[in-house]
Amino acid sequence: MQMAKVACFSGFWADILRHEMKKVFLETWGCQMNVSDSERVTGTLARDGYQVTTDENSADIIILNTCSVREKAEHKLYSRVGRIRHKNEIKPVIGVMGCVAQLEGETLFDKIEGVDFVLGTRAVGRVSTAIDEAIKNGRYFDVGEREDEYDWTVADTHRHSPYVAFLPIIEGCNKFCTYCIVPFSRGRERSLEASEIIRQVLELRRNGVKEVHLIGQNVNSYRPETESGLEGFAGKSAFSRLLRAVAATGINRIKFNTSFPRDFNDDMVDAIDEHENLCNWVHLPVQSGSSRVLKLMKRGHTIEKYLAKIDRIKASSRDIALTTDIIVGFPGETEKDFQDTVSMVKYCGFDMAYMFKYSPRPGTPAFEMVDDVSEAEKHYVF
Ligand code: 5AD
Ligand code: SF4
Repeated sequence: MQMAKVACFSGFWADILRHEMKKVFLETWGCQMNVSDSERVTGTLARDGYQVTTDENSADIIILNTCSVREKAEHKLYSRVGRIRHKNEIKPVIGVMGCVAQLEGETLFDKIEGVDFVLGTRAVGRVSTAIDEAIKNGRYFDVGEREDEYDWTVADTHRHSPYVAFLPIIEGCNKFCTYCIVPFSRGRERSLEASEIIRQVLELRRNGVKEVHLIGQNVNSYRPETESGLEGFAGKSAFSRLLRAVAATGINRIKFNTSFPRDFNDDMVDAIDEHENLCNWVHLPVQSGSSRVLKLMKRGHTIEKYLAKIDRIKASSRDIALTTDIIVGFPGETEKDFQDTVSMVKYCGFDMAYMFKYSPRPGTPAFEMVDDVSEAEKHYVF
């Protein structure tokens, strides 16, 4: 009997006690996928007995969930770790998550002094193990595959709002646009079964959530392995059928983000026209107004095809808000190409646009092209 008590104490309870006083501070950069991963990680940490804090100075463990889309975001990590190390008297355990972690893996230990663990985008479910191992052994890294039994449900996550939930429905990217690092940091596309999405939306609704964001690097490239959950819903693609199926749950508001132009079809607009609870907003990154540059970027569509989709969106009865992403100064972009982008922006009348200076990312095809647009030209404000 005594033996059993000792055995029990050194296992489960010892783990609980070890975690009890540990405070974790988590900082998130980048896209909604990172925000969503951080929400899951905070949920996992709370479940495993850690205290999640918003006070960085009192934290025993600091985790940085990183972005590598542009060079600037990556450099931020280097200076941030340095600041943590010099500011805090007692050095917290420092963990790096997200895209930089996935891409750099073990090499981060050599590149940045003071990093204790590295946890890739596919390994977020193993955050508690990472902390434990880093404390025990001084160093831990995991950029392995997401375990099949990984809990995709969002019900237990610590959401940024009680009323709004991010629901990842597709992970990764298969598109390999020539400038982009995401296919390397997030891996291949993998879609969640529609029946599981519907189950989660219904559960969120029961729990008082009013607005659900279906998210994915290319949300409308959604391709589940089976028909499960989509039976009886009409549509020209699995995604437009999913939109109708999610609308039928009756949840108040549904947004979806980000759409890939080549996979955007008129039927998605038809679904918005049919269902009030599908919000009247489409984010459709164009990147450039020049078909020549789009070809160099390997976006898989011409500007004429993009504009035809915009025309359909504008013909909607719902007054759909339209937003986009644009990259200026892609290798080989001429003044004429840039003026084509300006004309395209005028034509589309976007409600908002995220505009980026092209940033060469090692490992991408564009990195091998000559980055021939000067910094001053990329930066020019007119
Ligand atoms: N340089 C500049 N902007 C980039 N984006 C992706 N990769 C790069 C890069 N190498 C932008 C694109 C994308 C958004 C999320 O980030 O516009 O749509
Ligand atoms: Fe990057 Fe292109 Fe994939 Fe978007 S579609 S994540 S820009 S490779």
